[in-house]
Amino acid sequence: MTFVRIMGMGYYLPKKVVTNDDLSKCVDTSDEWIRTRTGIVQRHIAANNEACSDLALQAAKQALTNANIAPEAIDLLIVATVTSDMQFPSTAAILQAKLGLRTIMAFDINAACSGFVYALDVARHFLTNGVYRYALVIGSDKLSAIVNWKDRNTCVLFGDGAGACVLGQSDTNAHCVVDGFLGADGSNPDWLCIPAGGSLQPATATTVANHLHFVSMNGREVFKVAVRRMMEAVRGVLERQKLTIADIQWIVPHQANLRIIQALADELGFPMDRMICNIDQTGNTSAASIPVALAQAEAAGRFHPGERILLVAFGGGLTWGASLIQY
Ligand SMILES: CC(C)(COP(=O)(O)OP(=O)(O)OC[C@H]1O[C@@H](n2cnc3c(N)ncnc32)[C@H](O)[C@@H]1OP(=O)(O)O)[C@@H](O)C(=O)NCCC(=O)NCCS
Repeated sequence: MTFVRIMGMGYYLPKKVVTNDDLSKCVDTSDEWIRTRTGIVQRHIAANNEACSDLALQAAKQALTNANIAPEAIDLLIVATVTSDMQFPSTAAILQAKLGLRTIMAFDINAACSGFVYALDVARHFLTNGVYRYALVIGSDKLSAIVNWKDRNTCVLFGDGAGACVLGQSDTNAHCVVDGFLGADGSNPDWLCIPAGGSLQPATATTVANHLHFVSMNGREVFKVAVRRMMEAVRGVLERQKLTIADIQWIVPHQANLRIIQALADELGFPMDRMICNIDQTGNTSAASIPVALAQAEAAGRFHPGERILLVAFGGGLTWGASLIQY
């Protein structure tokens, strides 16, 4: 049987840090409101000339180095993002050239904040089937480019970053991606979206004047559905693997709101000190959120051989998913 091993991880957070106090100078908000409602203290913001592929490039280089794999060995490149450098071509195609990869299959996945978990599972299937030997999977997002910096309902929540992992075929189950359970429900696409700029409402002077090219969100509805859908994903993957939550040592949840993470921990009966959280430092970095938190926790030596780690995400779509990793 072929296992799919995480051979190395990397992450990148832009240098510029914007604190809650900095934001309170631009919109009617306060450090106290943002901390208590979201758990966010600061976020990293990319430079004007840093695009999604540039963030991804830094994370990917680090992952390749940590995996000790040459770029030429990579057979498959997937970038999860909602902030592609351009509407098309894909960020993955652009990154193929920037990284000097062979002319391999490279594509983007748009599953919003669940993107990395989706991408991980797609790559897992390609490797398990023996189609490819090594895959590079990246979550990269520059939310600062699509947020209305005058809208306090959304601008305080997001940040920029990228996280990457190199996957490879393996004969043993150590450091492996075991399973994934994914879902989507598009009945309320407007709960979290960019209304214009697509084929439904192409860009016009009016769409620009009406701020329809920025993230629009129904925070209360998303909050309510997030915990329910993440529970569904966790239960789905545990049931399929004939495990219970007591068999899991760590959860790396999507970093959208500390209260959502706490609610998930409560519902699962899972200790908060085993939930990996970096939201205070990063805000919600969308598809980058889980791989950045995972790479940081691994670099800090928090995981031990034999432990099981669950990644669990939700995002625009709505989409959701969980991945099980055997460390
Ligand atoms: C957005 C979110 C933090 C709001 O928290 P909340 O406790 O639900 O707050 P409410 O929506 O009840 O708003 C409370 C008040 O705070 C105000 N408010 C919103 N943003 C604010 C800010 N940055 N600073 C100060 N006040 C703010 C609102 O205008 C509202 O005022 P009102 O009562 O006078 O209308 C929360 O709903 C959330 O995290 N939702 C999920 C969003 C998410 O995760 N999105 C990404 C998914 S991947």
